[in-house]
Parts: sequence; C-alpha cells; structure tokens
Amino acid sequence: MSNRFAIAVAAMVALGTASVTMQSQAAPAGLDYEFFKTRVQPIFAKDRPGHAPCVMCHTEANNFLRLEPLAPGQTTWNEAQTRKQFESISKLVTPANRAESRLLIHPLAPEAGGDLFHSGGRQFMTKDDPDFKILAQWAGVR
Ligand code: HEC
Repeated sequence: MSNRFAIAVAAMVALGTASVTMQSQAAPAGLDYEFFKTRVQPIFAKDRPGHAPCVMCHTEANNFLRLEPLAPGQTTWNEAQTRKQFESISKLVTPANRAESRLLIHPLAPEAGGDLFHSGGRQFMTKDDPDFKILAQWAGVR
C-alpha cells in the first residue's frame, strides 16, 4: 500500500515538472504572458499626452509590432488577439541583450539611447517614463 502511494506521488511530481517545462517553452525568451496582457498591452492603446497611441499606426504596420485593430468602443484586445500580439511582439525582445531589445530602443528618444529614427517619433523621452519601465520590465531588463 505505501509502495503504491509512493509511486503515485512520484507520478504526480513528474507530471508537475512536465507542465512547467511546457509553459516555459510556450513563452519565447521566458516572457510572461499575463504581465504582457495586463500591463504591457494597455500601453499600446493608451492616449499618452503629446503622443499618438501606438495602435493608431501599428495595426497595418508591416513590422513586428503588429497590433490588431480595435473596433469602435473596444478598449482592449480579446484573448485570441492578445495571443497573436504576444507571439509577434516577443520577437522584438533580444534574449541575449534585453536592454537593447528593439521593442525598447526603437520608440525611445535618441538622447536617451534610443534609435535615431522611428516613424512614430519619440514615444519615450527617457528610460524613466513609467510606461517605458513596464516595457523594460516585461522584456526582462534587470
Ligand atoms: C505615428 C505612427 C506611429 C506611432 C504612433 C508609433 N509608431 Fe512605432 N513605428 C511606426 C512605423 C511606420 C514603423 C516602421 C518604420 C520605422 O521603423 O520607423 C514603426 C516601427 C516600430 C518598431 C520597430 C518594429 C520592427 O519590426 O522592427 C517598434 C518597436 C515600434 N515602432 C514601437 C512603437 C511603440 C512602442 C509605440 C507606442 C508607444 C509606437 N511605436 C508608436 C509608426 C508609429
């Protein structure tokens, strides 16, 4: 009896490990899906003073920051749209050098270490911008 119990416990432990492995494979570069959904995504739709929201330009965009169009009155993306965006935007994170990820450097002002040119302008003037900090946190910058 106690032997069987031990086997059952061992099997449960093995199953637990398997599901953890699968989860980490699902997230490219170890990026957190929930954090993306609840903290990062709202930034793309947000009206930030002096800036057009990312979603205004990035729905038809022929680049990796591909956002799904929001229907009138829709303020956030549904689960399927979120999955798609998570997949494509994850590619803008460079696991080997997270601080230099394109997601962070491209919309950042050149004076703050960003790229010289982004068609969408200087979306973040400094790395202290609270929204920039959320993007950096998601990208895994420590
Ligand atoms: C006024 C339009 C506009 C707005 C607003 C805008 N962008 Fe862009 N963005 C573009 C265009 C056009 C490109 C592609 C050409 C280029 O690289 O500049 C681009 C490219 C990018 C890229 C590079 C994508 C790749 O595949 O390499 C990133 C990252 C990016 N934008 C981030 C942002 C973020 C984050 C915001 C909002 C905080 C934002 N952009 C707002 C127009 C915009």
